[in-house]
Amino acid sequence: MDVKDNPIGFFDSGVGGLSVLKQAIKLLPNEDFIYLGDSKNAPYGIKSVDEVRKLSFDAVEFLLKYNVKAIVVACNTATSAAIQQLRSTYKNIPIIGIEPALKPAVELSKNGKIVIMATPMTLTEKKFNNLMTRYKSKADIIPLPCAGLVEFIEQGILEGNEINDFIKGKFSNLEVQKITSVVLGCTHYPFIKKELINILGGKVKIIDGSKGTAAQLKRQLIINKFINLKDKKGKVKIFNSSNNQEILDISYKLLNI
Ligand code: DGL
Repeated sequence: MDVKDNPIGFFDSGVGGLSVLKQAIKLLPNEDFIYLGDSKNAPYGIKSVDEVRKLSFDAVEFLLKYNVKAIVVACNTATSAAIQQLRSTYKNIPIIGIEPALKPAVELSKNGKIVIMATPMTLTEKKFNNLMTRYKSKADIIPLPCAGLVEFIEQGILEGNEINDFIKGKFSNLEVQKITSVVLGCTHYPFIKKELINILGGKVKIIDGSKGTAAQLKRQLIINKFINLKDKKGKVKIFNSSNNQEILDISYKLLNI
């Protein structure tokens, strides 16, 4: 079988990476995709770097069994903990990561505050600190660790009083009227965009890295001559480490296919 016909592998700590997969399907409709949600071990964002690194290698090994031709680490936390080690271990396969989309946020909002919502680990790791060093003189950037938010989304709770109160609590020390953009630095968060708009108002720009990551995947497939040339719609298969039908149902619902 030609490599071009092989699927593309995605993984995340749970259902979050589906927000990235959604964009990839739009951009590459003829590709087949294999998605692994590691909900059994979610959330990653409050674990140690070593633990997340080990889980990331396990996820990649799982995907390689399906002969994937490229891998998307559809998780900001796993990207910060493991992308370098993964790339130097699996040299023959393109590995695409995701990081908080700080650049477009800074370009869009010259004035006002930019809030970066992400997991505690993403915000304390070197990768994010390098990003901060690059942009902190250009804008007023506030990192906002959101431990506990992923757990709602893993249960399929995307709106309502409970999550509304929770998000409001996270923003309670910030002057909301001074915020001009919010960067979603965790792939779970695009699924709660509606609730964020309820809280922050419609004028705040909400930015996530899913489109940029899908575009980077496409570029890598082109460079490696891995683009699938068939003209029929590709297939998507979702696996979840928790082996729980409910989470698979939530996953397909979030993907909306
Ligand atoms: N979706 C993940 C991310 O982008 C991590 C969520 C978690 O498991 O803490 O960071």
